[in-house]
Amino acid sequence: MISSLEDKLMKFLNLYWLRPENGLLMAFKSENIETMKFESPSLDLSCGDGMFMFTHLGGTFSDQFDYFKSTSADKFSHDSTIDIYDSFDPDYSPEIISHPKVKIDYGTDWKQNLLDKASKLNIHDKLILHDNNDKLPFSDNFFKTVYSNSVYWVDNIDLILSELHRTLHPDGQIFLQIMTPYHIETLDKLDKLFSKEAIDILDRNRRKSYMSLKKYEEWVELFTKSGFKIKEIRNSYPNEFILDLWNVGLRPIAHLLIQMSDALSSEKYLEIKKHWVDIFYKLFKPLLYSPETYKFEKSPYLLFVLEK
Ligand SMILES: C[S@@+](CC[C@H](N)C(=O)[O-])C[C@H]1O[C@@H](n2cnc3c(N)ncnc32)[C@H](O)[C@@H]1O
Repeated sequence: MISSLEDKLMKFLNLYWLRPENGLLMAFKSENIETMKFESPSLDLSCGDGMFMFTHLGGTFSDQFDYFKSTSADKFSHDSTIDIYDSFDPDYSPEIISHPKVKIDYGTDWKQNLLDKASKLNIHDKLILHDNNDKLPFSDNFFKTVYSNSVYWVDNIDLILSELHRTLHPDGQIFLQIMTPYHIETLDKLDKLFSKEAIDILDRNRRKSYMSLKKYEEWVELFTKSGFKIKEIRNSYPNEFILDLWNVGLRPIAHLLIQMSDALSSEKYLEIKKHWVDIFYKLFKPLLYSPETYKFEKSPYLLFVLEK
């Protein structure tokens, strides 16, 4: 596993270079679960395209590869937002320099295109198409380790939590990274300053699609009600400025940046990407050491370690 937060920042900036603010958050998210060990049988619930987990586990991509390969960026417009990453080109082939040593038994997601991308990374033994609004296709007391950073994307949070409880082995552990409404507080603050049109461009439908954002005390209540013991809670990001950066960031023009990047020769791509990543690395590195200002009650994103 990668050791220092600075190395993580560099790796995640390389991967998410056109959305550097995402690279910064991913570095913190990865550091936040550094002590998590995948004991078999293990599950990465809503694993998506697998790139975050691949990088977290210490895998390395070639500089020629990034998160923005195989998208439908050219079909995006701010009037009819689509998930531009929900796309899979049959020629998609991430160039891998080194594979992580760890493997996870199961990965699930409700988007087949993302599972197809994840299958190229070979970090999950089995990839299963599954909507978290339905019961999990696993037996009782099965998993020793479960990780998810996506349980809040459901209509019915009680169902997924009771399913996670049902399928957890009595000696198992679940690591859930969850959002609270404070994660998108920047948008609420900007509501007062910006026009509706400008806010819609910044929001890009996020406030509508994050269905089950709960405050810290609500998460504690939900986990307890579902039968879990809370073993540990950790803040994921040190302070508010990082979230303000992320809430604005390059998201509004990401679809255009992707198309520009796609149009570059591979030499020019490498040259621009290197300068780009170096600049954002210098800009963001000091933020890795910002003092922690959040109390759990006001935290935008938390890691909960749960047991049965
Ligand atoms: C923020 S992404 C995280 C993906 C991945 N875990 C990662 O860290 O890159 C959220 C993921 O949740 C998945 N998702 C959203 N709603 C879902 C649902 N109802 N059932 C299963 N997966 C869902 C999305 O397809 C997406 O892959």
